[in-house]
Amino acid sequence: MSQPPADPRTALPPGIVNLADHEAHAATHLEPGAWAYFNGAAADEITLAANRRAWDQIGLLPRVLRPLAGGHTRVELLGRTLAHPILLAPVAYQRMAHPDGELGAAYAAAALGAGMVLSTQASTRLEAVASAIRDDAGRGPLWFQLYLQHDRAFTRELVERAERAGYEALVLTVDAPCHGARDRERRAGFRLPAGISAANLLGMLPPPEVPLAPGQSALFDDLLHHAPTWADVQWLQSITRLPVLLKGVLHPDDAREAASLGVAGIIVSNHGGRTLDTTPATATQLPQVVEAVRAVHPTMPVLVDGGIRRGTDVLKAMALGASAVLVGRPAVHGLANAGAAGVAHVLRLLRDELEIAMALTGCATLADASPALLVRR
Ligand code: FNR
Ligand code: LAC
Repeated sequence: MSQPPADPRTALPPGIVNLADHEAHAATHLEPGAWAYFNGAAADEITLAANRRAWDQIGLLPRVLRPLAGGHTRVELLGRTLAHPILLAPVAYQRMAHPDGELGAAYAAAALGAGMVLSTQASTRLEAVASAIRDDAGRGPLWFQLYLQHDRAFTRELVERAERAGYEALVLTVDAPCHGARDRERRAGFRLPAGISAANLLGMLPPPEVPLAPGQSALFDDLLHHAPTWADVQWLQSITRLPVLLKGVLHPDDAREAASLGVAGIIVSNHGGRTLDTTPATATQLPQVVEAVRAVHPTMPVLVDGGIRRGTDVLKAMALGASAVLVGRPAVHGLANAGAAGVAHVLRLLRDELEIAMALTGCATLADASPALLVRR
């Protein structure tokens, strides 16, 4: 195979000091279709904006004069001690942002002790990503995000491949039985460029053609026959030895149901506003989901993503009961700006900001972050 041409974007320009700077810089040089795909969301992008606004609307009320020496950002998650509670969310087709793609993101995550969640729709084979970082002693969790495929035998093989490659948990995404109405993408005429594909789904046959009778729906009478249900969560648990987390839960009743099925964790997410528009912000739903889960299972982890762009956002999430947080688009911005080094920079900024936020609120550890720290602005 021929090597891709060297990418000139390997060094960050000066003046990038936070995640918003990364976003603004990435916007200036990603191709418009790719930008619409990566940074856009569903319909009027009300949820996309709400996610950010909700973190901003929570104020931090600092405590002073507390002893802080020896503090740290460490957390426990699924039986491991992590350097800090930040993971890279599963994001499809990362090689479209930069040739380093998912491998670059994984190296950066490992170097910064962050978790890496690889998408089913990654543009890099899951085996390559795992073998790149699996043996790195300082790395964070390595998880595989699963979209159930219409071909359940293929799905099962995918799960077995992830197990063999060394992934430590499966993240079943449950908020995307179909795509949202992606107006921004359609307006931009977005198509995957040549050479970028869902590398882990190669070889899977397309679903059999279902001839639709007049008046039938391509969604309800075809695609949604393959959408996951609660029974499939149990099926997945029965075929894997890996812990299964559900990603995309917003309703406390769904969280309760998930907890009673013994899932390993829940990720409160609205897919970064990319599926159903006008859902509430994840910061708004997090406390209710935590409360519902705690009633069934006092120690089950609840993670959150959506609009987390500042160390203060991470601290607020932890204070609301999250066990860890994920970031999606910021990793894409870092990749687009400087490949693996750009993602590492994004993670470094976020972790440094988290330490500062802890110190300035009087939290020596994240166990000190509680709702007592928060005020409505
Ligand atoms: C995503 N997300 C996502 N989620 C998932 O479970 N599987 C996937 O393949 C993808 N792909 C994907 C592509 C792109 C371009 C984006 C922006 C997002 C959703 C992602 O995991 C996460 O929930 C959100 O990105 C979190 O919001 P922020 O941090 O981007 O605001
Ligand atoms: C997306 C799908 C891949 O959000 O999850 O684009």
